[in-house]
Amino acid sequence: MNKNINTDEKKINIVIDGKKVQIDKGNTLMQAAQKLGIHIPALCYLEKIKPHGACRLCIVEIERKGKSKIVASCAFPAEEGLIVHTESPKVEQIRKNLVELYIALFPFNPEIKRLAKKFGLVATRYKKEYNYCILCGLCVRYCEEVKKNNAIGFVGRGINKKVVFIPESAYFKKCKDCMECMDICPTGVFPSNYGIERIPQVSDS
Ligand code: SF4
Ligand code: FES
Repeated sequence: MNKNINTDEKKINIVIDGKKVQIDKGNTLMQAAQKLGIHIPALCYLEKIKPHGACRLCIVEIERKGKSKIVASCAFPAEEGLIVHTESPKVEQIRKNLVELYIALFPFNPEIKRLAKKFGLVATRYKKEYNYCILCGLCVRYCEEVKKNNAIGFVGRGINKKVVFIPESAYFKKCKDCMECMDICPTGVFPSNYGIERIPQVSDS
């Protein structure tokens, strides 16, 4: 019997950075990497909410049928036999460019600081514009999926698109007692830009 044939249809076998791993069908490449203890940089990923693929920091290179492709690991479902590289030269070049952009927008994010150091980036060619929302939707998705509140949402389109509290929401009054979106925002912009003070939490002391 060919040992390479996968007989368990609920499982997927892939190789990440040269290491084999078996995961459940439907798992993403990010989940597979986590199972192997491989860290993939990510800004808009939280395990308990649906991926959105906005920040692109989690990109990896996949090899499939002799062709390679760059995909967002947080949203890409693993496929049987896939070969994945988390730090290939192509990935690292794109990630470095992204980090250079993000330094100009939110240089205080710990992951961005770590990556800037790794890539030896001491300056950025992009215009500095701190307090920038990258529209990753983490706050919106967290409020909706975890808190079941829908007190935050997107309004506008294109360059006018932004995140706002929704005062009409039945749950808006609960925001002052929650403010968990503040801790998960990768850029630190929300909700400081919206004039809502954060109530100190027990965990802060
Ligand atoms: S406010 Fe923060 S968490 Fe919300 S969409 Fe913008 S960057 Fe993402
Ligand atoms: S973590 Fe995957 S796109 Fe942001």
